[in-house]
Amino acid sequence: MKLREASALKQGEGAFNLSNYEEVSKQFSWDTIHPQFSWHRTNKVNMAYECIDRHVEDGYGEKIALIYMNGHFKETHTFSNLKKKTDEWGYLLKSQGVKKGDRVFVFLPKHPDCYIAVLAAIKIGAIVGPLFEAFMEEAIFDRMYDCEASVLITNEELLQRVPVSKLPHLQSIYITDNIEHPIAKSIPKLVEEVSVNGEIVEWVDLNDGMIIHYTSGSTGKPKGVLHAHRVMIQQYQTGQWVLDLKEDDVYWCTAHPGWVTGSSYGIFAPWLNRATIVVHGGRFDAKEWFEVLERTGVTVWYSAPTAFRLLMDKSDLIPDYSFSLRHILSVGEPLNPEVITWGVEKLNLQIHDTWWMTETGAQLIVNLPSAKIKPGSMGRPIPGIKAAIIDEEGNTVHPYELGLLAIKKGWPSMMKEIWKNEEKYHSYFVGDWYISGDLAYMDEEGYIFFQGRNDDMINSSGERIGPFEVESKLIEHQAVLEAAVIGKPDRVRGEIVKAFIVLAEGYEETEELKKEIQTFVRNKLSAHAMPREIEILRELPKTQISGKILRRALREDKDVDRGTDTVDGGTGPTSVA
Ligand code: WT7
Repeated sequence: MKLREASALKQGEGAFNLSNYEEVSKQFSWDTIHPQFSWHRTNKVNMAYECIDRHVEDGYGEKIALIYMNGHFKETHTFSNLKKKTDEWGYLLKSQGVKKGDRVFVFLPKHPDCYIAVLAAIKIGAIVGPLFEAFMEEAIFDRMYDCEASVLITNEELLQRVPVSKLPHLQSIYITDNIEHPIAKSIPKLVEEVSVNGEIVEWVDLNDGMIIHYTSGSTGKPKGVLHAHRVMIQQYQTGQWVLDLKEDDVYWCTAHPGWVTGSSYGIFAPWLNRATIVVHGGRFDAKEWFEVLERTGVTVWYSAPTAFRLLMDKSDLIPDYSFSLRHILSVGEPLNPEVITWGVEKLNLQIHDTWWMTETGAQLIVNLPSAKIKPGSMGRPIPGIKAAIIDEEGNTVHPYELGLLAIKKGWPSMMKEIWKNEEKYHSYFVGDWYISGDLAYMDEEGYIFFQGRNDDMINSSGERIGPFEVESKLIEHQAVLEAAVIGKPDRVRGEIVKAFIVLAEGYEETEELKKEIQTFVRNKLSAHAMPREIEILRELPKTQISGKILRRALREDKDVDRGTDTVDGGTGPTSVA
């Protein structure tokens, strides 16, 4: 069955001329996007089809969809090739009984296999759970257990970190590399060629679950944010409006698909718009990043302030390269004006800030390519989005007054649910408003300025870290009696994770012990959650009534009991990072 007649999706078609932002904002309605998708006629949809198969049907099969670079290694994949691969992998999963709605987790590094696995799972109607490649045992366990994942696609090396025996719902594991697996011969290898029979695409409803990203809150374990196929409406449109993607763009989003930026804007938005994406494997390295920009000819680049700040320190290398960049965007943490100035001076481009969250599925507040940038501001809501700064009761506050950044309910890419946690889902809303948890103010022209979080959440290098998760891990270490974790301002990373610890009886503060505690968190949870700084205290500040730890006091350095009898008499924290 062919569900579409011909492509209705042409570059720029249906796009609004956003140089008249006010006018478009008044008129725009999300329904106007619908005719551009196949489901408009059939009522049935599939993100993987819209991202890949559609382009092959429309005659773009030989277009390069993905350029992969790792060190000096470079390979490319066409849309036809990705269609074939996702069909094969999808067929394999389907033929082994994986059904619509099953949770298929993908734990792979930034490599084409990861992109193929994510789309293959989506193609057969499963809910895909991509995991960040730096996650360690406990972070993996928390997510897969909560989600009752039945399938895992991973590689030989990363499989070592998966606590397979503790995951009762896990039925099969697929290995993407060629090495003979020592523990389970029955594990199918995806590298084998399979002959595909029948239709692989599972046609689903717009509101059917598609992808789940776990994200931290200030309390409790990470929560599963479930998104439905309908996110494509907004991801497609912001791909045009905000990323400004055109037919011949080479686009690089530096985030791993385990984070929402790496899926929404690392996979879906660019491929819905038929752009060529760049995937860079390996760790951050300034020189290598400059090489990626040059050798793949990146024209549109989406990254984060921490990365820009790290590159700023290597600015002297820039004159050695020749870049094709024409548009740069940023997300995840405050974009300081200093970074914008650097972009203008060294790359000849303004960096465009964008604001959104895991829960929102797509960009909401942005600096449009054509609009004036006010450094320090995240920009304005895209057409179709109403944002406001409100007080606790839901009343809009005056311009320049600090309040809660809130979004009027009902945008297409809004999360479908919090996995198995309806109460948490409802806690995001006050009346018609979705409450972001960010504090901000708005000027008379509607530009929004981020001022901080309204809770204890930490944002280090653009990654959201819940203090509770780190604290829970810390107290599992035998030397730790109590722990409190905060974000401490940092020039490069925005914030770093800092832990205040009360030692158990018999332990003494030494640099070795601090290192050991850091390694413990890094190995059990994840490198990004590791406290880069540890300070030992005699006692943690707590509320009188409930005895809850006062993280705010630690942030503001109030009522902190550092003891009076420390040997070196020092009160300052010891940076061990
Ligand atoms: C939180 C969401 C989906 C984007 C990646 C992070 C912070 C996000 C900005 C920005 C200042 C920002 C907010 C937000 N944040 N973008 N442009 N300026 N802060 O997604 O992990 O769900 O985190 O990141 O605090 O609430 P996330």
